[in-house]
Amino acid sequence: MRTEHPLDAARPARAATAGTATAVAHPNIALVKYWGKRDERLVLPRTDSLSMTLDVFPTTTRVRLDPGAGQDTVILDGAPAKGEAQRRVTAFLDLVRERAGMSLRAVVDSRNTVPTGAGLASSASGFAALAVAAAAAYGLRLDPAGLSRLARRGSGSASRSVFGRFAVWHAGDADATPRDADLGSYAEPVPADLDPALVIAVVHAGPKSVSSRAAMRHTVATSPLYAAWAAAAGDDLAGMRAALARGDLDAVGRIAEHNALGMHATMLAARPAVRYLSPASVTVLDRVLELRQDKVAAYATMDAGPNVKVLCSRADAERVADAVREAAPGSRVVVAGPGPGARLLHGGG
Ligand code: DP6
Repeated sequence: MRTEHPLDAARPARAATAGTATAVAHPNIALVKYWGKRDERLVLPRTDSLSMTLDVFPTTTRVRLDPGAGQDTVILDGAPAKGEAQRRVTAFLDLVRERAGMSLRAVVDSRNTVPTGAGLASSASGFAALAVAAAAAYGLRLDPAGLSRLARRGSGSASRSVFGRFAVWHAGDADATPRDADLGSYAEPVPADLDPALVIAVVHAGPKSVSSRAAMRHTVATSPLYAAWAAAAGDDLAGMRAALARGDLDAVGRIAEHNALGMHATMLAARPAVRYLSPASVTVLDRVLELRQDKVAAYATMDAGPNVKVLCSRADAERVADAVREAAPGSRVVVAGPGPGARLLHGGG
């Protein structure tokens, strides 16, 4: 067994001061999806994934250490967090405290500009911003890979939102010891000669009925299609990296679309099925096909919710947005592009 890991340089060190820190992060949309864990506690995925961080819907999070408080206070969009949301943030802070060797409780104030829990990656921007702010407030010095690993423990997809533009999340070595597996599972930037638009059709902004966490667990446990989808993920990732490097929007879109629809197929085959697609989603998917028949390079992807994101060139973005608006009247349509990585706004050790 190895005693030293090449990434040990990223291990946290305690900084001199700590206190209050504010960070901002943007959501990311996976072009090769993460769906399924091999370790629930460490949030280790079964497959590598690759995403584009957006330039819309940021989350801003402030962490203030609260000497004397007996428990953490978590405010989400101006209201005290309850239940699972409160539990996940507190568990995440416990991890930060353990690494920092501190026991102080904190007040977390987080504001999303995206509907929370609607399959628009609010947990990705949320935990990426929390990782950056909490690490700074508790005086942990982490490099970007270290921050990505930390964010991962809050929500897998958050590991990718630490980085701007395009990022790959390495699943890590399935046969490694838990510690090495933890160190080996982080995201990093991916070179891309592409500046596409992502047209987001918010057909339904309410929270999803089944969380992605529960849905992926159920899919892995019961779907006979899961193994085939996961086995194809390696080829999807290699194809995606090559397509991004050569700036091939059609190839990027084709891979993203089949990877996403394949993921939804695994859920539809779960017992009982998990179905996030709504009639409005299907109408938008149909419209995307029509656009392609009209020679517009437009490709769809969907996450754990009914909202559809359409990848296209910047030049076609308004045409695609109009087509989507017409297909799903009443939906909110937002045109996004590649956005920045998570960053500290102020404060920290
Ligand atoms: C469909 O990252 O929200 O958006 O790790 O359990 O918090 P947890 O899951 P989460 O799942 C995201 C699933 C997805 C695909 C993706 O972003 O890769």
